[in-house]
Amino acid sequence: MSISIGIHDLSFATGQFVLPHTALADHNGTEIGKYHVGIGQESMSVPAADEDIVTLGAAAAAPIIARHGTDRIRTVVFATESSIDQAKAAGVYVHSLIGLGSATRVVELKQACYGATAALQFAIGLVRRDPAQEVLVIASDVSKYELESPGEATQGAAAVAMLVATNPALVRIEDPSGLFTADVMDFWRPNYRDAALVDGQESIGAYLQAVEGTWKDYAEQDGRRLEEFAAFCYHQPFTKMAYKAHRHLLNYCGYDTDNDDITRAVGQTTAYNTVIGNSYTASVYLGLAALLDQADDLSGRPVAFLSYGSGSVAEFFAGTVVAGYREHLRTKANREAIEGRTPVDYAGYRELHEWTFPTDGGDHATPEQTTGPFRLAGISGHKRIYQTR
Ligand code: CAA
Repeated sequence: MSISIGIHDLSFATGQFVLPHTALADHNGTEIGKYHVGIGQESMSVPAADEDIVTLGAAAAAPIIARHGTDRIRTVVFATESSIDQAKAAGVYVHSLIGLGSATRVVELKQACYGATAALQFAIGLVRRDPAQEVLVIASDVSKYELESPGEATQGAAAVAMLVATNPALVRIEDPSGLFTADVMDFWRPNYRDAALVDGQESIGAYLQAVEGTWKDYAEQDGRRLEEFAAFCYHQPFTKMAYKAHRHLLNYCGYDTDNDDITRAVGQTTAYNTVIGNSYTASVYLGLAALLDQADDLSGRPVAFLSYGSGSVAEFFAGTVVAGYREHLRTKANREAIEGRTPVDYAGYRELHEWTFPTDGGDHATPEQTTGPFRLAGISGHKRIYQTR
């Protein structure tokens, strides 16, 4: 019998500030129904000037270290598409901020929003090779589009940290996976740009194509039947996308699409993403957190995951929720992370959106805005300086 490996613990962090979509709609004259109903977004997390993917990732990982210690963690895989350095892995800063030992390998992974699923699968491979080890997977992203662009309403920021281990307390990840890659230009960010470029409608089509492609492969690999799943965690660039994707999958499989069935399958996975916004690599795992925090007992039930990363790479796979998982959830902390954000008005959001460090190599301190456990204090000689509170 193969050993049971999966998500032993899951914790997340999000940005200091929150912009309600009503403020964005007031500014740009959009009918609020387009945001609340059309794309399914209520508000977006906005990081402080002294936050970035490192401080968010460390804040997500610290509670996992506090609960499980560092002894068995020999690998950190940091997935992001809003990387802060072309050479150094952001996870190396996190490794130091959360006090991991020097006998650790740390690496950064990139393939748009799919990166964290690659990290999870690679982590499972490492744990299978040496079941005594645990792997810390961190998915951390700040989603940024141009001001006044269609993508602006789908911005957000969050990090999810997951401890991958044998005999997991939350979700056992199963074989097989359904895989799909297609070379498309639906969403990308050249190295010289801070904000992503996107062809919105093309990206929705590419996502739906990947839903079909991954399911086709999953079925060919003898995966579970569609009816077996208790819920479906989709990547959520905006929460309406989960509904579109599930409708597409049902149609592709020859089922009628009943709105209530779709809501039953995806509704509880959208609660955190609808108020946080797109968190790229973290999004599908925020979907899992929201599901586990809200659903009636899912013990022993299979849950489906569809991870999509523009460009594009996607994976469909299953996890079985482990009996007793509710004792290990972080529901209270998760809600506090969301409710503890400071509301920002449109002018304040715009200032944060436009904030960048000078690139002259001088000493530049950041304003002290975040109240989180870690902060980006500034930059000096082109080096980022982090602080622990
Ligand atoms: N009341 C209710 N609904 C309304 C409305 C109103 N007053 N006004 C418009 N709507 C509906 C529209 O009918 C539409 O719904 P359907 O798609 O179900 O028809 C929805 O609101 C959005 O309207 P538009 O398509 O006109 O919106 P848009 O062109 O301004 O942009 C978007 C939408 C393309 C998603 C844009 O926000 C965008 O480019 N986002 C970034 C890209 C993205 O998220 N792509 C998703 C797939 S790629 C991916 O998943 C990777 C990733 O993370 C980026």
